This record gives sequence, structure tokens and C-alpha cells, in this order.
Amino acid sequence: MPHSKPILKALSGIQLSPPPIWLMRQAGRYLPEYRATRRKAGDFLTLCYTPDLAAEVSLQPLRRFGFDAAILFADILLVPHALGSDLWFADGHGPQLSRISSMQDVRRLAPPGIVRESLAPVFETVGILSREVPRDTTLIGFAGAPWTVATYMISGKGTTDHRDPIEFMRSERAAFDALMDRLAEATIEYLLAQIEAGAEVAMIFDSWAGSLHGIEFENFVERPLKKIIRGIADKEPRIPIIAYARHVGSAFSRFAKSSGAACIAVDSTVELGWAARHVQPYSCIQGNLDPRFLIAGGSELIDQAQKIVACLSNGPHIFNLGQGITPNADPKNVEVLVEAVRNPRSI
Ligand code: CP3
Repeated sequence: MPHSKPILKALSGIQLSPPPIWLMRQAGRYLPEYRATRRKAGDFLTLCYTPDLAAEVSLQPLRRFGFDAAILFADILLVPHALGSDLWFADGHGPQLSRISSMQDVRRLAPPGIVRESLAPVFETVGILSREVPRDTTLIGFAGAPWTVATYMISGKGTTDHRDPIEFMRSERAAFDALMDRLAEATIEYLLAQIEAGAEVAMIFDSWAGSLHGIEFENFVERPLKKIIRGIADKEPRIPIIAYARHVGSAFSRFAKSSGAACIAVDSTVELGWAARHVQPYSCIQGNLDPRFLIAGGSELIDQAQKIVACLSNGPHIFNLGQGITPNADPKNVEVLVEAVRNPRSI
């Protein structure tokens, strides 16, 4: 049966005008109703592990903006949490984790199978969402890619230069390989369980892919991405995959040609003409508005949104941001953006 949902159509290679739209991190602190639900939960992890509340915050942006997709409310760091890492979010500090610094630490991680058990509340959230999202809305599940998740596990927190993870990779290669293998396996298990619970698309976030280059990029970004996509396709060949990496330049084109992903999500640094020629002929493209346009809004937001739509109008495109929306984005500007994409002549 052909798909009737716009996002699934675009992912199957159909060009739609206007393109379907959703935003990375669309459920979050820029929405007062998110902040209220989070207060009710007490803290971020409790919110992730309480299916009714997690489903509620996933649905909030749909009610306001009528997006074409809902994304599961969870976090990429729930996988290391399930594997046994301590994880906490202190206000204003971002995530903090117990650090992996030796083979012994890697061996102490829980064996395969634990993800299905420990993350059962997340799959329950997916189940609630698959019953509650509007008929034309697509439900997206997600996980972090091994390199991005490993950077947090090795540093014990979010960093931007990734000095410790790169040092660990080079000096403790066997332990690093074991960690990456464990993460790839756990990620496949996690995404398959989300799909069994009702997720219609799987998205893989490699937000820190841009910190590796050359053979290290091939070994620890491209290879795990392909391995995870193959692992999903073996069991669930009909589920499209969106691959998101940041700051990887021309590798976006290779991903589109040979990763097996149905869609490549590109960041805001990508030149649109290049993307139309080198990514879009081989896969659907998602992106690439800089979320900073949503802070001030105005004619620059509208012009940039319409430029993206025009440049990517010759192939399958899902309108989105180049990276997650920030807490200081103005919800009124999100409304303007949706209108600019869906009804360009009314603006
Ligand atoms: O709408 C959605 O997309 C919700 C689901 C979602 C969250 N995190 C919720 C969240 C998704 C898809 C993510 C992905 C995620 N998490 C990534 C990859 C995408 C990206 O943005 O690069 C990464 C690197 C993380 C790890 C993480 N989680 C960090 C670094 C932080 C702190 C920084 C921040 O943005 O606050 C989080 C916390 C987090 N994850 C919040 C939300 C809504 C904020 C928590 C809060 O204080 O309420």
C-alpha cells in the first residue's frame, strides 16, 4: 500500500510541495508547557522514564504547530544508563556520567539484552504515542550513534574538543573497540525494540561525527552507521532510517550513496546547491535551517526558510533545522516558520 503520511512519502523518495516539516528537539524548554510538565516530573530523567509524561511532552509541539512528525521523548544517553553508567543532569551543567577509562570499565557494562529490560518505560512511551499521534503524523524513534555516545561516556560530560575520547581511542584501542562494539549492538537492540513498539522511522544522531577525520572517521563514524543500518534492515527492512551527522562536509554525499539510510539530515554549514546536486539525487534530504533564525525571527527567518524550500524543491525533502532548537527560540517564530513553509503566499 502506498504511504499516505507525508514524511513516509518523502522518505520513500517522493518529492512533495510543500515539503513536510518537523524540528529536531521540537519537544523542549522553549515551550512553557514542556517546562510545566518537566516541573511536575521533578527532573529530566524521571520525565524520560515516566511514559505518560514523556508521551505528553512529545505531543505538545504537535498540538501547537501541527508538525508532520512526532519524535519519541527520550535521550541518547539512556543507552549508557541502561548499560550501567551513572547518569545525572544537574541544572545548568548538561549531562554527567561515570567515566569509562579502561578495559575493566568496559567489561563492567551490562551484557546485551539489558536494553530491552531496562528501557521498557521508553518502549511503553512509544506504544502510547503510536496510539495517540494524529493519523497523518509519523512517529520517529531515535538513538545516538556509538561515537557520539562514547564521547560522553569517556569524558563523563559534554565537551566540544573530544580530547579525552580521541586520546582513549589512540592509547587504549582494544578497550575503545570493545566499547564501540557494545554500543553498536545495544543501539540496534534499542531501535528494534522501539520499532516493535510502534516507531515508524528510526533516526540515528551522530552529533559529534565532525571531530573525527580520515580513517578514524571511516572506522568510527561510517562503519558503525552502516552496521546499525544493516542490523535494522535485516529484521525490519521496511523501516526507513534518517542519518544525522554534524560538520562532516562531503561525507554527506557518501552517506547518501552508500550508507543505506533513506534520508540524510544535513547541518546548517552545508551549501544548499551542493546538497541538491550531491545528496538529494541519492536520498531524501532533511534540514538545514540554522536554529538561531528562530530567536529573532522576522523577514530573515522567512527568507531563509523559503530559500531552503526553493533550493531543495527538485527532490525529496523534509524541512527541518540543521541542529536542535535552542531554549531561547520564540514559539511564535516557530508558528511563522511553519506558515512560511506550508503557505508561502500567505506571508
Ligand atoms: O524533541 C526532541 O527531539 C526530544 C527528544 C530528544 C532529547 N535529546 C531530549 C532532551 C532528542 C532526540 C535528544 C537527542 C540528544 N541528546 C542528542 C543528539 C542531538 C543533538 O542535539 O545534538 C544529544 C547530543 C543529547 C545529549 C544531551 N541531552 C545533552 C548534551 C543535553 C543537555 C544539553 C541540552 O540541550 O539541554 C541533554 C538534555 C536534553 N535532552 C533536554 C531535552 C529536552 C533538555 C533537558 C531539560 O533540561 O529539560
